[in-house]
Amino acid sequence: MKSNCIIVLVGPPGAGKGTQAEKLVEEFDLVLISTGQVLREEVKKGSILGREANEIMGRGELVPDVVVAEVVRQRINGGGSSQGILLDGFPRNLSQASLLEGFQGDRRVIVINVHVDEEVILKRLTGRRHCVDCGRIYNLWLSTPQQKDRCDACGASLVQRDDDRRAVVQNRFRVYREETEPLIEEYSKKHQYFVVDGNQKPQAVYKEVCNKLEKLELEEDALAMKSKQGMA
Ligand code: AP5
Repeated sequence: MKSNCIIVLVGPPGAGKGTQAEKLVEEFDLVLISTGQVLREEVKKGSILGREANEIMGRGELVPDVVVAEVVRQRINGGGSSQGILLDGFPRNLSQASLLEGFQGDRRVIVINVHVDEEVILKRLTGRRHCVDCGRIYNLWLSTPQQKDRCDACGASLVQRDDDRRAVVQNRFRVYREETEPLIEEYSKKHQYFVVDGNQKPQAVYKEVCNKLEKLELEEDALAMKSKQGMA
């Protein structure tokens, strides 16, 4: 994947964005910025940001736009320019998208929308567990660890996220519909954008993502070649 790209993963809570992000980062050598993950780490550290975010996340609402945008800006500007960037969970509304435009520089944005039916998601979220140490994601019904409640990668314990309780999940869906769906509508018109079927098994979703990314790259290369020939 080219270094001047920002890939934005969008989709409802539990769509599988984090699961796909893990694989994409490995395969394409991308810098991952997962705002949910960053905020959970801040909560764990007990920082000022963490304390502010904890209560908001516990209700399933959005942390203020400027706060989250600053976290992303620092990571984008702090990293080297030789790698592409994968954004999981940012932007989440039109205001965050416009803040991103202010610091993305000349990087081109590619948007991947992971579409999943709502009833499938509820099962995924209530069964989700993650490793307290390395953050790796599991599911009690769909991708169980080899040893009960232990991470396959590092052996630390697996825990449930506070915001995966049913009442909070309902609120996260409401926020998604009100704030993120209008952003997706806008992104589908403005940027290189594609939808993948997230109802499939993780490996099949990943294959679809890779195929579509490859097709985009080929189209880009063909366009660049054409414009070079036009100039010659
Ligand atoms: P965040 O952590 O970003 O939560 P989310 O967007 O609601 O997404 P999730 O992490 O719940 O799900 P996912 O799509 O990553 O699915 P996963 O791969 O884990 O944000 C949390 C909170 O932080 C927000 O509510 C907000 O308060 C705050 N926040 C974050 N970003 C913010 C921002 N930009 N602005 C303001 N506030 C912000 O998969 C879910 C489960 O399903 C797992 O168990 C997994 O194993 C399983 N699974 C995944 N894929 C499949 C598949 N294909 N088949 C079967 N099972 C699957």
